[in-house]
Amino acid sequence: MKNKRVLVVGSGGRCHAIVDALSRSPQVEKIYCAPGNAGIAAQAECVAIGVTDVEALVAFAKEHQIDMTVVGPEAALAVGIVNRFEECGLKAFGPTKEAAQIESSKEFAKRLMAKYGIPTAGYEAFDSYEAAWEYVKGRPLPAVIKYDGLAAGKGVVVAESYDQANEALRDMLLDESFGKGRVVVEDFLDGPEFSFMCVVSGQRVYPLAMAQDHKRAYDGDKGPNTGGMGAYSPVPFVTEEVERVALEEIMKPTAAALVAEGVPFCGVLYGGLILTTDGPKVIEFNARFGDPETEVVLPRLESDIYELFDAAIEGREHQTKWSDKAYLGVVMASKGYPGSYAKGAVIGVLDKVESHIYHMGTGRNAEGKLVTAGGRVLMVVGSGATLAEAHAKAMADVARVECTELFCRSDIGHKVLD
Ligand code: AMP
Ligand code: GLY
Repeated sequence: MKNKRVLVVGSGGRCHAIVDALSRSPQVEKIYCAPGNAGIAAQAECVAIGVTDVEALVAFAKEHQIDMTVVGPEAALAVGIVNRFEECGLKAFGPTKEAAQIESSKEFAKRLMAKYGIPTAGYEAFDSYEAAWEYVKGRPLPAVIKYDGLAAGKGVVVAESYDQANEALRDMLLDESFGKGRVVVEDFLDGPEFSFMCVVSGQRVYPLAMAQDHKRAYDGDKGPNTGGMGAYSPVPFVTEEVERVALEEIMKPTAAALVAEGVPFCGVLYGGLILTTDGPKVIEFNARFGDPETEVVLPRLESDIYELFDAAIEGREHQTKWSDKAYLGVVMASKGYPGSYAKGAVIGVLDKVESHIYHMGTGRNAEGKLVTAGGRVLMVVGSGATLAEAHAKAMADVARVECTELFCRSDIGHKVLD
């Protein structure tokens, strides 16, 4: 029956893709999004409540008889939005604050993996600059240095020189540019990366389709790390065997470990994995859908996403169904991103574009025109029988987006297309 009312919390491209998938559900009657963005507004009713304004979100859910709230961003999870919804007897899809530590604390994640034998890079944690630098300068390069906390994908430096490593440690531990915190120094792992997102419900794991992100800002994987400049799905080098190993030796044991630790996870467990010559290993876990991976994965989901979320919340069996089609998305970001950038540039009419466009950071100006409102602005997702076809479609449509203040990578998918 088409009678369910859903509230999606978030405002980026990931939330747009979740709203889009929910709008295909045969059960969903009405979708609200808080706060949403100019693109989401075409598919959901946007309400002006911030993602960490938990009490206002609870009040909204009660008042509008929301059947399920789906939480997108890590910031909302980290302040305990799901704990609060549960206390109020409201159904929410996402992990509790305690379970979300798998993302919000790198050290929590590393300790858990060490204790339960989940394959990942060796590491040491430091809170003093002197001790960290002493350790790093006695070890081989590259040095992997991570701020231990939420830093929107920007708190990681893979230093190719000792000078660069020293600068990163100074930046994080002396200048505290992400805030007061510790750093984790890891062994460098080599191989292609992929993102394996699973819906998890305690011990139960429902795998989603594979995707690959592109973290660096510019073509050829050059430039600084970003939140992600493009993605595609499926990922040809993730064979059925690699997927089986990743599921059986990483994702299922991690879900079981969280149950054993007394912090059962319900929501999307995102494995940022790397395929080394020793098999897949964990680079990081996230406690939510990945952005921009979600925008290429959810369009492939043919089964009902509301049913999937509900099965996870209630702890039921559920079988997902996926399309064989290939999806490839190119992020159009504000010039200057991931550094500082201007907002408010007018984006011309998007009608000529055939690809699906997910809005990542858009708004409306005083005249009602669509404008840029974030670092990552749009994601143009092409589809086709092959990734090459999806890439060609996405690039043709990128050229049709009228805005001089945006840039993008032209080589999304290069690892599998060249
Ligand atoms: P993270 O935010 O932890 O996903 O790290 C961002 C990026 O840094 C990853 O996507 C990798 O490209 C790189 N990276 C992180 N940890 C390692 C590691 N141990 N070895 C090699 N590369 C890494
Ligand atoms: N695309 C990586 C992330 O969502 O963290």
